[in-house]
Amino acid sequence: MPRTVIRGGLVITAAEEVHADVLVEGERIVALAATGSSAAQAWTADTEYDATGRYVIPGGVDAHTHMELPFGGTAASDTFETGTRAAAWGGTTTIVDFAVQSVGHSLRDGLDTWHAKAEGNCAIDYGLHMIMSDVTEDTLKEMDILVEEGVTSFKLFMAYPGVFYSDDGRILRAMQRSAGNGGLIMMHAENGIAIDVLVEQALAAGRTDPRYHGEVRRDLLEAEATHRAIQLARVAGAPLYVVHVSAEQAVAELAHARDLGLNVFGETCPQYLYLSTDNLAEYGEDGFEGAKYVCSTPLRPREHQAALWRALRTNDLSVVSTDHCPFCFTGQKELGRGDFSKIPNGLPGVENRMDLLHQAVVDGHISRRRWIELACATPARMFGLYPRKGTISPGADADIVIFDPHERYTMSAATHHMNVDYSAYEGRQVTGRARTVLSRGSAVIEEGEYRGRAGHGTYLPRGTSQYLH
Ligand code: URP
Ligand code: ZN
Ligand code: ZN
Repeated sequence: MPRTVIRGGLVITAAEEVHADVLVEGERIVALAATGSSAAQAWTADTEYDATGRYVIPGGVDAHTHMELPFGGTAASDTFETGTRAAAWGGTTTIVDFAVQSVGHSLRDGLDTWHAKAEGNCAIDYGLHMIMSDVTEDTLKEMDILVEEGVTSFKLFMAYPGVFYSDDGRILRAMQRSAGNGGLIMMHAENGIAIDVLVEQALAAGRTDPRYHGEVRRDLLEAEATHRAIQLARVAGAPLYVVHVSAEQAVAELAHARDLGLNVFGETCPQYLYLSTDNLAEYGEDGFEGAKYVCSTPLRPREHQAALWRALRTNDLSVVSTDHCPFCFTGQKELGRGDFSKIPNGLPGVENRMDLLHQAVVDGHISRRRWIELACATPARMFGLYPRKGTISPGADADIVIFDPHERYTMSAATHHMNVDYSAYEGRQVTGRARTVLSRGSAVIEEGEYRGRAGHGTYLPRGTSQYLH
């Protein structure tokens, strides 16, 4: 088996920081030893990396991506091939994407379709959640089978009536089922019925610009749905994971639930930490620039950001994922010219997350270990992948990033690797960058060169959430 040694770096996990060399055999980490110790010096290897002055961190785990997602009459512009390659460039070595059940079809149909999209195409390892759009007696039974097979989390939508939406009765039934089978319900918490009324009224009044997307998707309607989801989960006796939290009032609902000791978890995304309604209101050359920032839940006024950062420190929010769902400005976002409700919802970001969160370390929002906890360890634990993923320890997959904490660069569509014609972070300077990335012991990125291949990434059947046992 090929042996690799990474020497001289500061190894950072969620638990500790140590100056250690890391020995990899084949696809696994086999040992750590203090740098300069006789044990480490005795190691021989086929490949050696010098990580002096750098961090050695677990590969990022992005638990919320949508490669190739069909949405609003188009499809997300990153395929599993382009999206996982871009993820690797940004220091992420595992994604958990969402297979979609469409109304009238089985969960199995949706899962098979997503397996066919992903298989043989990924540069890094991947798992799948299941979006349930049609909760029926049959699909409830299928949930049990999927959990057994390693698809252990199910996303339900309180938004998007007529597409992904489930009413409270369906949500309660799915939660009751997950209480029995160990699955985790992931909730898109926005009151879609009320939002659709406000959309209709805005359009009728001629308010058609992208910024109205943010205005009709009111923060109170995120908070109300979050509250309702929590109460439904309590009634069902089920755990709950609320995705892409953006409103301060929704964070308060999560904090209250967690103070009561409930198994309620929250996720936010870099766009809510770094972007705001100011971006949605951008006019640009033709008044439509804000379309680049249309996603749901929407970007909020920047005053909400302090509550998100605080919750990331107190663990009321415990995961940062990207909700990577890119649509090109030209030809895709443009579908909503003259009607913001037709702008496909979603932002690119799978390549940016690790570096943006390191910037949060530089800026003093979180510690280095919390960075790794939020971006690697907790998502791996939450979705049944730990300690294979999310940490650096003997026995773990050798998903390792050599990270230069000093390199400064500017994020831009001109240099990123995501298959999308704009960057949500265009012109933003960050300090720190993933330089070398190993996936199961193989180099995917080496000092700014791509060495990976489509098909290296394998499917990850997952266990149930490790926060529940
Ligand atoms: O705007 C978003 N978030 N698009 C992706 C679908 C979803 O709701 O996560
Ligand atoms: Zn969602
Ligand atoms: Zn999403």
